Amino acid sequence: MPTVTIKNFGKFYIKGRKTLLDFLVDKNIPINASCGGRGRCGLCRVRIQKPPPPNDIEALLISEKLLKNDYRLACQKQTSEDIELFMPKVKAKKTAKKEGFGLALDLGTTTIKAGLVDLKSGKIKDKTTVFNPQNSLGGDVMTRISAAVEGKYKQLRESLLFGIEIAKEKIGIAKPIFTTVVGNPVMLSFYLNKPVSGLSRYPFRSAIKESTFLKNPTRYVFPIIGGFVGGDTIGGILASNKYQREGIFLYIDLGTNGEIAVIKKDKIVALSAAAGPAFEGVGISSGSLAVAGAIDRITYNKGFRFRTINNKKPIGICASGLIDLLALLLNLGWLQEDGRLIKKIEIDGFGINQDDIRKLQLAIGAIHTGIEVLLAKLGVKPSEIKEAILTGEFGSSLNLESLTKTGLLPNGIKQLRFEPDLPLQGAIMVLLGNDALERVEKIKKLSEHLELALEPDFQKKFVSNLKLTSWS
Ligand code: FES
Repeated sequence: MPTVTIKNFGKFYIKGRKTLLDFLVDKNIPINASCGGRGRCGLCRVRIQKPPPPNDIEALLISEKLLKNDYRLACQKQTSEDIELFMPKVKAKKTAKKEGFGLALDLGTTTIKAGLVDLKSGKIKDKTTVFNPQNSLGGDVMTRISAAVEGKYKQLRESLLFGIEIAKEKIGIAKPIFTTVVGNPVMLSFYLNKPVSGLSRYPFRSAIKESTFLKNPTRYVFPIIGGFVGGDTIGGILASNKYQREGIFLYIDLGTNGEIAVIKKDKIVALSAAAGPAFEGVGISSGSLAVAGAIDRITYNKGFRFRTINNKKPIGICASGLIDLLALLLNLGWLQEDGRLIKKIEIDGFGINQDDIRKLQLAIGAIHTGIEVLLAKLGVKPSEIKEAILTGEFGSSLNLESLTKTGLLPNGIKQLRFEPDLPLQGAIMVLLGNDALERVEKIKKLSEHLELALEPDFQKKFVSNLKLTSWS
């Protein structure tokens, strides 16, 4: 039976498998563990005789000097073999307003999302979404990359960092003890102060590939898959829990930079399709993000009927409402398949015009083409897809019929699941556990990137998919 020998306390025999931290807590030996043993606060340091080399978390959370002096984290050490250690004195805790909180960030082109997590209890305390202030320098990533290359890099980076500060202020945390960051490769490059010029032209190479650990403050930035498919897709796939499962799954993040992946057990193939910000309600005359008051469901029965998020007074129409509306207009014959609107439409003061329809057509055509190319690449028929998982700025009531009627999704998908914040959830999962960190690296390893624009017939396919009609 393995033993733990603690100077000035004694020798103990260990029954069962547990971490050194769990053992110390069981024995009422004082130790500071603000994050509840999740490897995020770095406070459960103990000095171990002949310790093994530090793992990534220990290298991140313990200074080099202390590492050299054999300090390791009790929460990272299993008691499966004999351990001898010295307990450092536990200092009286300073009472900070938000001690023991971690922050998860999803850096999107249009929005920045943040989640505040109490690391001890594992509870999500709050979530918030703010507009990315970079929007004032261009609505899509290509415009921002061009602006950066032309000398506005610093301004763009500062805008992003400012947006993060606004999100932190809104959520009420100044100094999280650990931050995890997902985002598309362009946003992650700005965040990490890496050049974006490699993404301005073919072969669209990002300056970042692997995950990054940063000290002072402590942060973990997700790796990317390739091209414009980023850590947000890895986070979303992690949170969807669908990799290495039986069956074929389709993952779609309908943001400005639409990211699509087909998950076939041990293989993940992903690409990005430039959808533009229409699905986030940006550039649409009555568009809205999926927030309280946004119209997210529209039906027709001798007149339009609608529902708003949280039953609040309507403020605009979010993506799920817009897709419902397109499908209804097609059914009613007020919108033609080529996108021509033949009747003036108004719902409670919110209209949709020809220009809006064109933008939505482009967004739907881009996603349709991306899915089509991926399925063809893997030799998968739509009817073989066990579940389509959608994430992004939709209302909660996505309607499969509207999605197939407009051509956004193929017919025959057995099940549709929608969760608005999967990438952020992935970042939260990493805040809460080290096995999630390992799974991130696994997903990265299993993933292959495909460059949509290089696919034969891409342009031809895209033009033909601009038709608002079901897949043939
Ligand atoms: S308890 Fe070990 S790092 Fe927080």
